Amino acid sequence: MNILITGGAGFIGSHVVREFVNRYPTYHIFNLDALTYAGNLENLKDVEGASNYTFIKGDIVDAGLINTIFEKYQFDGVVHLAAESHVDRSITDPLAFVHTNIIGTVNLLNAARDMWKDDSDKKRFYHVSTDEVYGSLGAEGLFTESTAYDPNSPYSASKASSDHFVRAYGETYGLPYVITNCSNNYGPNHFPEKLIPLFIHNIIENKPLPVYGDGKYTRDWLFVEDHAVAIDLVFHQGKNHETYNIGGFNEWQNIDLVKLLCRLMDQKLNRPDGSSEKLITYVKDRPGHDLRYAIDADKINKELGWKPSVTFEQGLERTIDWYLNNEVWLKNVTSGDYQAYYQKMYN
Ligand code: NAD
Ligand code: DAU
Repeated sequence: MNILITGGAGFIGSHVVREFVNRYPTYHIFNLDALTYAGNLENLKDVEGASNYTFIKGDIVDAGLINTIFEKYQFDGVVHLAAESHVDRSITDPLAFVHTNIIGTVNLLNAARDMWKDDSDKKRFYHVSTDEVYGSLGAEGLFTESTAYDPNSPYSASKASSDHFVRAYGETYGLPYVITNCSNNYGPNHFPEKLIPLFIHNIIENKPLPVYGDGKYTRDWLFVEDHAVAIDLVFHQGKNHETYNIGGFNEWQNIDLVKLLCRLMDQKLNRPDGSSEKLITYVKDRPGHDLRYAIDADKINKELGWKPSVTFEQGLERTIDWYLNNEVWLKNVTSGDYQAYYQKMYN
């Protein structure tokens, strides 16, 4: 099988590439990634020499390139992760999200539809999406696969749109697809613009920890390797034209999570108890900030037997250790453009 993974140099994508390259030596894995600010081939050092792995630098918005590689490599399956993924960036530059998340997805769908028209029963288009398409929960309830879409940010609106296109291609052209909607991931290789890696980096550097609004917003956190395993399972065993929600059964209010992180970091860095908490600074809220996300992952659990294997305490400790042991990675991604981004967002 020739499998195309898009966005494989990013946070989740790199864990998915590793999972597929190592677990399926008879597959050939093609990783297509534009290497935006979020893409980093350092994330894949351990698999870059594998004989069943090829990296292709390219943009999913480039329809000509997509058609060419589909012709050349005759993909049997696609796992589509490439996206602009940061909500705050979508607030300052929505069009970038329209281009990559919507037009890029439609380019891939067109190529798959055209190339697979004679043997689509043997193919699979896997679209990786987010729980943010469902909008915001109040204090109670969970997102299920039948929750109505109600996106609130330009990011989630672009992901919702791409999900609709995938389903529409299933209905209209018979394209074989599966979609998963996952909750917040955390773990190694997470770009330090997102809450957990940003705060780990700032604690190391003794910089303020910018908590948006009152810090009472709630997210459901999943260790990234558990997401990669779920993607592998759904790719191979998920039912055609179905959606599966993936979540951590692990809700945390931001402020409680930040305080836990501060305590663990004080221990790891041998700093006096309470020193990292002093860095917490409440700042202006994110516009349109969704109050709460929480996933009901009952369907993937019952149908495919998936559940998270890592507790939050284990996952957070592994994540912190990874950042402390990978200073060079952290330094490389936080120099240059990152400094300008940080100034613009937080100063
Ligand atoms: P990321 O920002 O870390 O990585 C995105 C990758 O896509 C990068 O390698 C980047 O270079 C690449 N890319 C961006 N634009 C591209 C383009 N036009 N052409 C080709 N490559 C391009 O993102 P992530 O956090 O790893 O998320 C991956 C996917 O999972 C996204 O589709 C996201 O919506 C989804 N998702 C993320 C989370 C999360 O918590 N991070 C949760 C649920 C779903
Ligand atoms: O739910 C899945 C989504 O999770 C993915 O689809 C997105 O790609 C991913 O970025 C993530 O979105 P969030 O907006 O939930 O993640 P983020 O890490 O940006 O923020 C998590 C929470 O922390 C959110 O309530 C905003 C808050 N926050 C974030 C940052 C960056 C802060 O309080 N301060 C910050 O500096």
